[in-house]
Amino acid sequence: MVPMAELQSVLESITNEARELFGQGQVANYIPALEKICGKQFGVAICDLKGNIYQAGDANTNFSIQSISKLFTLIQAVQIYGEKLWEGLGREPSGTRFNSLVQLESEQGVPRNPFINAGALLVCDRLESRCSAPNFQLLNLLKSLSGNQQLTVNQIVARSELEHGSRNAAMAYLMKAFNNFHNPVEKVLESYTHHCAIEMNCIDLVRAALPLANQGQCQNGDLVLTSKQTKRINAILATCGLYDEAGEFAFKVGLPGKSGVGGGILAIYPGHYTICVWSPELNQAGNSLAGMFALEKLNELLHFSIY
Ligand code: DON
Repeated sequence: MVPMAELQSVLESITNEARELFGQGQVANYIPALEKICGKQFGVAICDLKGNIYQAGDANTNFSIQSISKLFTLIQAVQIYGEKLWEGLGREPSGTRFNSLVQLESEQGVPRNPFINAGALLVCDRLESRCSAPNFQLLNLLKSLSGNQQLTVNQIVARSELEHGSRNAAMAYLMKAFNNFHNPVEKVLESYTHHCAIEMNCIDLVRAALPLANQGQCQNGDLVLTSKQTKRINAILATCGLYDEAGEFAFKVGLPGKSGVGGGILAIYPGHYTICVWSPELNQAGNSLAGMFALEKLNELLHFSIY
């Protein structure tokens, strides 16, 4: 383990360097409500297996978790369905943008993995079949894992995405055409957009993700996932968590990770830490520009890497 004082000092210096990147990325604009966010913000938090938190910058600022939510809907679906979840859903990297439809048709409506939009929509479809209130089931899980009972859904962001959600609707209807989508598309889109519009900060997320660094166990010993399920979800994060930039992420950062167009990146260093960085300006691939930089610096300076 890195000495606490050294870790804190490294986070502060990385934050100063990351701020120099402000203005070089682009805040997400295809969901109009996200476009209003000030891009010149950067936060970072790290949680160790004892629950100690190290933080710097805007680590306490709430942001839209967007596709980071897909990690937690996957956890819920694995808890409910186990191996059966993978009937009609792949575990392969897509090599395409997160919202591409190209492979969906050529692969008979079977999404490559649970982290591209099509795969996450399928996971939400499966949750719709088994959860009484899927809109809020995920929020309750995140409140429990993060310990923050004040978490909320930003209804303005959720509505804005629903009003501009034709691509996702097209994916859902295409899967339905291949009999791989069981519930009404509008209902699943509603819960999916609510999940994406949950607001959390870096500290909430590193706490919520701790079981993934701790063989599936919460800090209080509760088991969220089995050790085998944890390893497998980390493997899918490592190969698919940043879409068509997953290879670059593995090359530069070297950790399982999950990004979101709200500017967050959550990374897992199994057996050691969880890490969350947040800066709303995105790079060409739709991942946080300063966030990627900061995680690469953690690899460089403190050798945070699974390779
Ligand atoms: O469905 C969408 O397009 C967004 N709600 C989430 C996409 C996202 O965060 C991709 N991650 N980089």
